[in-house]
Amino acid sequence: MKGIFPIDKFQSLRTPFYYYDTKVLRDTLSAIRAEAGRYGNYSVHYAVKANANPKVLAIIRESGLGADCVSGGEIRAAVKAGFPAGKVVFAGVGKSDWEINLALDYDIFCFNVESIPELEVINQLAAAKGKVARVAFRINPNVGAHTHANITTGLAENKFGISMEDMDKVIDIALSMPHVEFIGLHFHIGSQILDMGDFVALCNRVNELQDKLEARQIRISYINVGGGLGIDYAHPNRQSIPDFKAYFATYNTHLKLRSYQTLHFELGRSVVGQCGSLIARVLYVKQGTNKQFAILDAGMTDLIRPALYQAYHKIENISSERPVETYDVVGPVCESSDVFGKAVDLNGVQRGDFMAIRSAGAYGEIMASVYNCRELPQGYTSDEMI
Ligand code: LLP
Repeated sequence: MKGIFPIDKFQSLRTPFYYYDTKVLRDTLSAIRAEAGRYGNYSVHYAVKANANPKVLAIIRESGLGADCVSGGEIRAAVKAGFPAGKVVFAGVGKSDWEINLALDYDIFCFNVESIPELEVINQLAAAKGKVARVAFRINPNVGAHTHANITTGLAENKFGISMEDMDKVIDIALSMPHVEFIGLHFHIGSQILDMGDFVALCNRVNELQDKLEARQIRISYINVGGGLGIDYAHPNRQSIPDFKAYFATYNTHLKLRSYQTLHFELGRSVVGQCGSLIARVLYVKQGTNKQFAILDAGMTDLIRPALYQAYHKIENISSERPVETYDVVGPVCESSDVFGKAVDLNGVQRGDFMAIRSAGAYGEIMASVYNCRELPQGYTSDEMI
């Protein structure tokens, strides 16, 4: 065992694979429970899109979180993992009829609706089943987040949500429909947000919109502020648990929640990001013209974040105590962007060494693909390694 990894147990496993440290996950969930629990009327949903590995989902479900789903497949995965349907919310700009029907059959807590045409379809499909669907509107708050352009969602130019100008109109339409019950508003401004000021900006926007609703004597019981809390990719060991205290306190200080309201959150990355590492073996060390490459058996098909978002993940040679050298760490996929890191300092690398690509629990395994006819990586938890 070097550091936190049971390398001896890794020997018999086919690489690459995801390794989930369940102590980190459980400690993270305890911190969420403790910090959200201070405020009585806060309800946290886990954003299943971040990681739907059944073993990970089971641990999260045990902690009592609800589930935030963006597809019928995610609703199925959540229900299968034991999340109560009454704690499932369903978002997404393009919900298919079968997905809406599935959600109606399960009687999920709420549809987070993103357009009038979608509202009409939900009303029709609910009518056909003799049901009333609870709906909230996802409002695009036009609040920027200081994060990567590909993962901001709350700007007017993004495809998500309904514009603030249309809010009154869509609410009137919903109130006139017999098979939907309008219960609240939903927001999400982006992901990997570390500047609490971004959440303050969202709170201020929610307060404005609430005042508008109150002026119209419309009472809503549900406010959902989405997810987005970031993690420390540079220091996965030093800061393995995100600052949930500051996060929930920010909402408590700045969002004027009414006594009859519940504030919902949809956290993904901050729940699972730090518990997961992608474990690969070194296939070859190759000397280039003026650099050396560590070529791994894991590639962008296993973890696409560096290629897609130029995301930084800390890389460690967990087999080696040799003197540090500098490498470009790359995968075997036939794409120049199949690079995990350039000029990375690592303990001297040899063929067969295990490498850990850290902070990969969120948007790692779930975004894996079979490009180049590669196999999907397996996921193992530390509980299985005892
Ligand atoms: N709620 C909604 C409506 C969302 O769209 C998202 C993420 C979440 C909650 C969860 O956000 P989180 O707490 O994880 O930031 N694949 C990208 C991230 C995409 C995020 C999409 N939406 C990445 O690897 O960085």
